[in-house]
Amino acid sequence: MASLINSWLQSTFFLGAAYVVTKHGVPEVVPFEGEGVDVVNLAKETGTKVEELDRLLRALSTFGVFRQTALHHWVHTAQSAPLRKEHPKSIRSLVLHAGAVGIPSLVKLDEFLKEGEDDRAPFERLTGVSLDDWFAQNEITQSNLHKHMTEERLMTPLLTEFDWNKFAGKTIVDLGGGNGEDLEEILSEYPSIANGIVLDRPSVIALAQSPTNPASQNHRLTFLAGDFNRPLHPSLSSPDTVFFLKHILHDRSDAGAVRVLHNIRQAIPAGTTTGGALLVVDAVVDPANPGINVAQVDMWSMSQFGAKERTKEQWEALLDKGGFKLEEVREIHALSSLLVAKLK
Ligand SMILES: C[S@@+](CC[C@H](N)C(=O)[O-])C[C@H]1O[C@@H](n2cnc3c(N)ncnc32)[C@H](O)[C@@H]1O
Repeated sequence: MASLINSWLQSTFFLGAAYVVTKHGVPEVVPFEGEGVDVVNLAKETGTKVEELDRLLRALSTFGVFRQTALHHWVHTAQSAPLRKEHPKSIRSLVLHAGAVGIPSLVKLDEFLKEGEDDRAPFERLTGVSLDDWFAQNEITQSNLHKHMTEERLMTPLLTEFDWNKFAGKTIVDLGGGNGEDLEEILSEYPSIANGIVLDRPSVIALAQSPTNPASQNHRLTFLAGDFNRPLHPSLSSPDTVFFLKHILHDRSDAGAVRVLHNIRQAIPAGTTTGGALLVVDAVVDPANPGINVAQVDMWSMSQFGAKERTKEQWEALLDKGGFKLEEVREIHALSSLLVAKLK
């Protein structure tokens, strides 16, 4: 038992240490090699206390995060380097989010759990704003954060284990599609698909349309600023449209998810017999054996959004409420399955 509580405490302390050194810009100043930076200079440059900074780095170094070349002289390790902003696999956003608001909001799970309490997510109880609104006001994008929490190469199996040619000639609309990289990969891999539209919040679309975003260069891909909580733009209303929702519904309560499904349902023209397809990518939980990763993301959904990862039965019921029938479930990996649904 002692070792279990120790490992719980260790992860909490080390995340806290990684959060504060990252917040104070320490990873940006520590060099990658050489004799290392003297902690006195490091503290001066980052406006921190010498001894306390040295102790935080010492604690992190026991995890392989930063390394002492000589007493009080620090360099990066492979584990600490991703704390830097410009690292290609930077985890800075995730560490900052988790330390500032992600983990602290767990305290409010206590209220959320109580019978009779309203459905405001623990995150909203802590900060006063929903996580969606918080993302809209902060440098961290939801998509960026989410990619770290799941895994990065989900698109490869999604493209190979499902034959997207069945949507030849159709338009795929990626609702909450972020910078468009997922849809860009689908279109590039499947030239038979006519074209694609990424709908996301205006601030996300403004960034996605920048010429520096590779997806913006694909002439079969267009971007649309919008809100999937409201009736969808009439241009999306075609019998040849396939709606794609990747890692969207698990961040919504049942009521919120049904609202999105209802808006999609309303966009599909009456009398549509072919098409009218809906593709959802999210976890399908095996309640008897959820696995640690699914359980972790489920706790995240609950504490951040007041939402959940769903079992197959819960997906069927949710889709049914939204006007769709679940036709097929294909497991892509433990954290994501592809759910194919049709109009009811
Ligand atoms: C968890 S991310 C998923 C992004 C992408 N589908 C993926 O799998 O990487 C959720 C996305 O939904 C977008 N989003 C959140 N609320 C939205 C809304 N009301 N209307 C449109 N997009 C929204 C966010 O900006 C973000 O890009």
